Amino acid sequence: MRLKNCHNFQDFRSLAKQRLPGPIFHYIDGAADDERTYRRNTEAYDDCDLIPNVLTGVESVDMSVEVMGQKLAMPIYCAPTALQRLFHYEGERAVARAARNHGTMFGVSSLATVTIEEISAITDSPKMFQFYFHKDRGLNDALLERARAASFDVLALTVDTITGGNRERDLRTGFTSPPSLNLQSLLSFATHPAWAWNFLTREKFDMPHLSGYVSEGTNVAVSVGEYFSTMLDQSMNWNDAEKLCAQWNGQFALKGIMSVEDAKRAVDIGCTGIMVSNHGGRQLDGSRSPFDQLAEICDAVGDQVDVICEGGIRRGTHILKALSLGAKACSGGRFYLYALAAAGEAGVDRALENLRTEIERDMKLMGVTSLDQLSRENLRFR
Ligand code: LAC
Repeated sequence: MRLKNCHNFQDFRSLAKQRLPGPIFHYIDGAADDERTYRRNTEAYDDCDLIPNVLTGVESVDMSVEVMGQKLAMPIYCAPTALQRLFHYEGERAVARAARNHGTMFGVSSLATVTIEEISAITDSPKMFQFYFHKDRGLNDALLERARAASFDVLALTVDTITGGNRERDLRTGFTSPPSLNLQSLLSFATHPAWAWNFLTREKFDMPHLSGYVSEGTNVAVSVGEYFSTMLDQSMNWNDAEKLCAQWNGQFALKGIMSVEDAKRAVDIGCTGIMVSNHGGRQLDGSRSPFDQLAEICDAVGDQVDVICEGGIRRGTHILKALSLGAKACSGGRFYLYALAAAGEAGVDRALENLRTEIERDMKLMGVTSLDQLSRENLRFR
């Protein structure tokens, strides 16, 4: 498998599997418990069919959207994800450049491996900072001020990681951050020499937004589940979210909203966006999928806040279905992480380009020239 043969999500996944040591591949690929929610996130799109119109004159289509005050050239952006230098030595730099090339937003995690200042210097495309609410209030204040100083456009508070999900693949492989060197992991590094060479010879692994405050994840090896369970503040509540929103005083989203009740509260505390998301099925297995839950959330708050549908997206048609239901944009992690692991910036660039051409083709086949022409009229649920 080579980059030029990567035409879809599964192709990138296969190439990533080839390139990455097992524990690292399974960290990206895995989800919680029986991974039912992870599978449902994509399968949900198959329970809904598109109904195209024809003869509408579609020689030029406009797929731009505006979400949380940001103009995006395409209706999907790169959701924030952690630890990217473990997947490719360029890490977040590669994703920032590819997102910039496609005029879309890039979300950078508190658990990123390249600084937000550097990302800000790479791209003036829209940038989102994903905030994890730590027990260490000094760290929380520092994260917020750093994101502001680096001119990030959107702050997204993650609300679905109040404790670590049960990621059994990580338990089996022993995946930790930083990678721990036991016999099993050394063996998988030895069988992936290109990855191991880059990991050992390039700049030292670090999570620069955290390392001055906590050693876990950077100097002390922990699983991501353990990190969530021990470092994040489980007392976090609506008052904290409201205070953070006021403190940021700009575009502010809650990432990981699933209920109508919470979507309404997000509006009440002043959010300008919500990501309907179950964290890629990595937290609460058995949780409903974002696409299944989208209609009721859009009905309740779609005219007051920008609703983003996150998770399970693999095809242009998935994005058209979510937008037809009322989402303003979509976001995803694995679709670009496999591509990053497969081929760095060129990989992410190709993954975004594949989606861009799919969306363009699918819009033409649906008979629409702009995304606001999509509506529930063009959907039927089985
Ligand atoms: C995860 C976090 C880090 O799901 O977003 O692994």
